[in-house]
Amino acid sequence: MLPSQRHLFDIPDDVVWLNCAYMAPLLRAVSKAGEDGIRRKIHPWTITPPDFFNEAERARRLFARLIGCDSDSVALTPSASYGVSVAARNVSLCAGQNIVILDEQYPSNVYAWMEAARRAGAGLSAVARPVDGAWSDAVIDAIDDRTAVAALPHCHWTDGALMDLERIGARCRETGAALVLDLTQSLGALPFDVGAVRPDFISVACYKWLLGPYASGFLYAAPRYHDGNPIEYNWITRGGSEDFAGLVEYRKDYQPGARRFDMGERANFHLLPMTIAALEQVLEWGVEAIASSLETRTRGIAERTAKLGLESLTRERRAGHFLGLRFPEGLPAGLPDALARRGIFVSVRGNSLRVTPHLYNTDTDVDRLLDALEALV
Ligand SMILES: Cc1ncc(COP(=O)(O)O)c(C=O)c1O
Repeated sequence: MLPSQRHLFDIPDDVVWLNCAYMAPLLRAVSKAGEDGIRRKIHPWTITPPDFFNEAERARRLFARLIGCDSDSVALTPSASYGVSVAARNVSLCAGQNIVILDEQYPSNVYAWMEAARRAGAGLSAVARPVDGAWSDAVIDAIDDRTAVAALPHCHWTDGALMDLERIGARCRETGAALVLDLTQSLGALPFDVGAVRPDFISVACYKWLLGPYASGFLYAAPRYHDGNPIEYNWITRGGSEDFAGLVEYRKDYQPGARRFDMGERANFHLLPMTIAALEQVLEWGVEAIASSLETRTRGIAERTAKLGLESLTRERRAGHFLGLRFPEGLPAGLPDALARRGIFVSVRGNSLRVTPHLYNTDTDVDRLLDALEALV
C-alpha cells in the first residue's frame, strides 16, 4: 500500500474527503500548472504557435501510456459525453438493432444512445441489476446478434459493481457489436489495457480518478475509425493547421489518426498543463499501486461497516476503489448532511452511500467515518 500522499494536496486536517467519485481535489502541482497557465494568457506574447500543438501531443502521449495504445488513437475532449457523442456518430446502427446499457447507467453514456437509437429506429436495452451483483454474465447474455453497440462502464457509478470487460469485449467481437466504454469512474484507479479489451471507443472525463481539472477529457478511437466523422469542424484538426498564415486555404484533409475528433480550442493554456501534471503524477504512482492501495482502504472500511450491519458488494463483484454501502432498513434520513456537518464527505447514489477514497486519505479519516456512522446509524 502506498503511504498517504495527502501532503501533495491542499486538504485541511478536519476534512475527510471520501468522495473522489464525485470530484477529486486538485494536487498542488496541478493547481500550480493551472496558475502558471493563466499567467501565460495574461501575457499572450509568451504563447507561440508551436504551443498549440506540443502540449496537446504531450497529453495524448501520457494518456496513451495509461491505457496502452498509440497516441495517434487519442483525441482531446471536454467531457465524457462529448466522446460518447463522437462514438455514437461513428458506429454503425440500423433499424431493428439494439444498444446494450446498464440499468441506472450514468446519463453521459445514455443520452447520445437514446438519440442515435431514435434516429436509426433502433432500441435501447438496459440490463437489469442482477440480485447477486453478477453484472458481467447478465451483460454477456444481453449481447446478441441484434446488438449494434454495448455502451458500458468498467464499474457501476452508484456502487462500484465491476464488469469483466475482457469477457464482454470477446462477446462483442463474437456477435459483431461495437464496444464503447465510459471509463470516467475507473481509469486511473483500476488497471485497464486496450490490447486486452479491444474496445471501439473509450471516453473519459479527467476530473475524478485522473485527478485532473474540470472540462478536460480524452477519447480513444480504434484505428478503424480514424477516417470517421467528428462532431464539430474546427480549424486545428485540419491538415497543415500549423501554418497559421495559410488557414484560409481551406482543406478537406485532417491531422492524422484520432486528432480529427479533438474538440475546438483543445490547446487550452491553463487546463491542458493541469491535465498533463495530473497524468504525470498518476503514472508516477502507477495505476496498479493506486488500485491496490485503494482496495486495501475500501476492504478495511467494508470489514468495519459490516460489523455495523451495513452491506456492500463482495470484493469479487466490485471495483477495489469503490464502496457502495447499503442499509438493510434503508438509508437513514439526513445521513449525508449529518456526516458533512462533521466534515465527512461521501455521496448518496441510488440507495447506496458511496464511499470513494484516494491516496490523500488516512487511517484517521477512516476512523472518523466509522465513529460517525456508529453514532448516527
Ligand atoms: C460514469 C460517469 N461518466 C461520466 C461522468 C461525467 O460526465 P461528463 O463529463 O459528460 O459531465 C460522470 C460523473 O459523475 C460519471 O459518473
